[in-house]
Amino acid sequence: MEKLTGLNRVKTAVFISGTGSNLKNLIKYSKIKKSPISINLIISNTNKARGLHYGDLFHIKKKILNFKNIKNAEKKLLTLLMTNKIELICLAGFMKVLSKGFIKRFNGKIINIHPSLLPKYKGLNTHNRAIQNRDKFSGCTVHYVTEKLDSGKIIMQRKVKITKKDTPTTLAKKVLKQEHRLYPEAILKIFN
Ligand code: GRF
Repeated sequence: MEKLTGLNRVKTAVFISGTGSNLKNLIKYSKIKKSPISINLIISNTNKARGLHYGDLFHIKKKILNFKNIKNAEKKLLTLLMTNKIELICLAGFMKVLSKGFIKRFNGKIINIHPSLLPKYKGLNTHNRAIQNRDKFSGCTVHYVTEKLDSGKIIMQRKVKITKKDTPTTLAKKVLKQEHRLYPEAILKIFN
């Protein structure tokens, strides 16, 4: 692999809707020597996303787009991605579904982190569902984004044990800790 410098790292945009702990984790990762990516753009569908402050903290360009009109939003998004020469999109708690056309346009260049061991529990409330079903394990998955929700090719997964004491909240915490290890590992795997 080519030697990584600030100049030849893969320019990455991270899409968020909430806390942004995965965003913060990816920003920190992007600053280490072996990281193949740089984070150049943060996109949110809401100005209420707490993670947006990482844009100010780390001096990364951020943009809020109103997805009520998805066509308009994606048009603006496309321009932003092009002008910032973005080559990889990391979804990290982004709560909007991108259009088929948009996903096709960035085929193989959009990845997502999902808080379950896919193909189990696509969609929302994954921790609740795993506990209700008395599963012994849960975990997280990084996968390519395709037109079908949470169904693209799996890049990597990490498992966590579910104990009798676990609630959706405690399980979410345990899984999130693993997400922070998994996302950088999966990115490294893609570019190796
Ligand atoms: C994570 O659990 C992620 O797997 C899911 O949404 C949550 C986002 O958390 N898609 P954060 O905003 O990165 O803290």
